This record gives sequence, C-alpha cells and structure tokens, in this order.
Amino acid sequence: MRLVHSVAELREALAGSRDTAFVPTMGNLHAGHVALAEIAARHGRPVVASIFVNPLQFGAGEDFERYPRTLAADCDKLASVGTDIVFAPDVAGMYPEPQTYAVLPPLAGELCGAHRPGHFQGVCTVVLKLFNMVQPRYAVFGKKDYQQLHVLKGMVRQFNLPIEMIGAETSRAEDGLALSSRNGYLSADERAEAPRLYRLLRQAASRIAAGERDFAALENAAAAELTAHGWRVDYVAVRSRTTLLAPASGESAFVILAAAHLGTTRLIDNLEC
Ligand code: PAJ
Repeated sequence: MRLVHSVAELREALAGSRDTAFVPTMGNLHAGHVALAEIAARHGRPVVASIFVNPLQFGAGEDFERYPRTLAADCDKLASVGTDIVFAPDVAGMYPEPQTYAVLPPLAGELCGAHRPGHFQGVCTVVLKLFNMVQPRYAVFGKKDYQQLHVLKGMVRQFNLPIEMIGAETSRAEDGLALSSRNGYLSADERAEAPRLYRLLRQAASRIAAGERDFAALENAAAAELTAHGWRVDYVAVRSRTTLLAPASGESAFVILAAAHLGTTRLIDNLEC
C-alpha cells in the first residue's frame, strides 16, 4: 500500500488507472469504513482511500479540532483489506487559496443541513475536489450518512460526473449502535444509552410496516422518548426514500432519519422501511 500526501504524488501513483474505486473518509477508521474499502475492491482497482478532516464541513463550535487523527492505525486497517493507495492531504494542500464553494439544492438545507449550516456545502466542495483529484470510476459511501449520500448522488447526476455511486449498508455494534468515529467521545453511561436511538427507529419502522401513516405522531413520540432520556433532539423525520422530502400520499418506500445529542456528542442514524 502506498501513502501519498500531494496531488502530484497521487496522480503519479494512479497514472493510467481507469477502474479506480474510491472511498473518501475523515479517518479514525472503524469496521464500517473498512467494509467500504472491501466493497470498493469488489468493484474496481486500484482502491484509493482518502483521509482528510475537512474544515469546510465543520461549523463554529463543532468538533473539528478534537476530531481524532489516527493516520498510522488507519493505514494499517486499510492495508489489511488490500487498499492500494491512501491519499492523506493536509489542509494547505487541499485549500491553497480561497476556495470556490459548490452551490447546493434546497434539500441540503433540511434535516442535518438545517442544524449544521454550510455542512453539506463543505462536504460537496471537498468531495468534488477529491473526485477531480482521484478521478475514480466508482465511489463508495455509507448509508449511515443517508442525506450525505443523497446530496452527493444528486451532485454527481446534475454535474454529469462519470462516477458510479455505491451506497453501503450501515455497520453496527452488537447492541445496534451505528459505528461512528464520534462514538469514542461517549462516556460509559452515554455509550450504554446510545443504542436507544436505533431501537426507536426500529419501533417506528415496525409501526409503519403495520400501516401507521401518522408520521408526525411517530416522529413526536420518538423525539419525546429521547428527550425523556436526556437527549437533545435535532430531528426525527420520516421521509421519502427517493426524494428525502416529506412522503407524498400513497408513497411506500420510506426512511426514518434522526439526529440527537447525547452530552456533547451528536449522533445520527436512519433506517429504511
Ligand atoms: P466519515 O465520517 O469519515 O465517513 C466516511 C464514509 O464512511 C462515509 O461514506 C460514511 O457514510 C461511511 N460510514 C461511517 N460510518 C459508517 C457505518 N457505521 N457503516 C457504514 N458506513 C459508514 O462522511 C465523511 O467522513 C465525510 O463527510 C466525507 C464524505 C469524507 C467528506 O469529507
């Protein structure tokens, strides 16, 4: 496995590659990220993973500074599943001059976008740059960040980028908690409480499967239960799986998305139903 830091080194390592499969990350990798690299390897070679904590997608007061940087351990994990190239640029290499931002559709201002202004603009800007640097044929993203995947698929479609976007299922701990680099911030008590988020999504999903269509009641009940257990809820929302907007009547493919804070840690999760 080759570790490169500059775009010039990356280009040299990739010379002539046409079937590159790409996994963008911010590092501090867990089994969910590693699974993405394995999926990438089934689609194309070489497999490139990027590791870059992107300042543009963090708001003021968020965890950019404390976000864990664990490059050596991350490289070991990626090497163990056959990743060919790790691209780990620094901030000056990624943003050598004031950056032009991607302009986004209204959906990017909803759900997480409503609670993290500018977040998806930062995500799209860095992913567009990474796509131009790596020029992959395939790119793998987790459904854990459901709205991110949806917004990025829209960007690829609308700007006609010749990239096949692959969505990977969410990797979870045994108690159901979605794996996340941010889980490391949780105290022991918070970690014990955290699986409630996914339990409530499953409960809401089974009520939808049983025919419940009063989505506001489901959303409010789940949010109230979280609040009662000490969470600060950003949103619980039942949405159309295809548009991520409020479901139209007669719609049958849903996703329930939730974001809530436990102490100083913001957790997100979702479930298709
Ligand atoms: P990061 O949070 O490091 O996640 C990198 C990729 O791993 C994303 O596609 C994310 O959806 C996926 N992922 C995270 N946890 C997962 C889990 N439990 N199961 C499956 N996939 C999971 O998402 C980002 O970084 C950034 O926004 C990025 C796209 C790299 C742009 O900076």
